[in-house]
Amino acid sequence: MEKNAADGKGCGESANRDGAQGNPPAPSVLLTPLTPALAGAVSRVEAACLPEPWGEPAFLSMCRDGNYLCLAAVDKESGEVCGFGAALAVLDTADITGLAVLPSYRRRGIASLLLSALTEGLAARGIKVLHLEVRESNASARALYEKAGFSVDGRRKNYYRRPQEDAILMTKIL
Ligand SMILES: CC(C)(COP(=O)(O)OP(=O)(O)OC[C@H]1O[C@@H](n2cnc3c(N)ncnc32)[C@H](O)[C@@H]1OP(=O)(O)O)[C@@H](O)C(=O)NCCC(=O)NCCS
Repeated sequence: MEKNAADGKGCGESANRDGAQGNPPAPSVLLTPLTPALAGAVSRVEAACLPEPWGEPAFLSMCRDGNYLCLAAVDKESGEVCGFGAALAVLDTADITGLAVLPSYRRRGIASLLLSALTEGLAARGIKVLHLEVRESNASARALYEKAGFSVDGRRKNYYRRPQEDAILMTKIL
């Protein structure tokens, strides 16, 4: 699965967003299924991006669990793993359990590519509904998910710790 993150990228920068102006050209990334050999690099992306990372053992066990779909984004030029997306499928629904892109690669469409590849892969497995939770204050992720067609359909009070915060629940019907 080879994708160029520049494809389909929209416009409309605002001043306070990551990588506003002067970014290098969008890297060409390869989306590849998680393998044990990639688990360490993917967990380093997770640790750099998320406040409560699961760590490498969780990614290793995802490789053995057929209910998980996890994709890594690899910079074709440098070979660096720069992002990942993961989902857990149960019957005909799935949860997006993790999605992150290294700060220096943001705002180039890589998370959108990961999300659409996950969605396509899950739809091909017969998944009909996607769910996710996101921190209320995580404006960038909420904007990403809304752009990808997710709608807010609930809230879980004090779901997150460090810092404590509500989760916003979002759903997309495939
Ligand atoms: C959220 C995250 C995955 C987005 O990754 P990304 O590769 O920069 O996202 P994309 O370039 O595909 O952005 C797609 C859209 O999302 C929205 N978006 C992304 N980052 C944004 C930001 N900082 N501010 C506002 N909107 C943003 C925009 O609508 C953007 O489209 P546009 O660039 O055409 O305006 C990334 O910021 C990240 O890793 N954050 C930390 C981890 C995290 O919060 N993960 C989600 C947990 S639920």
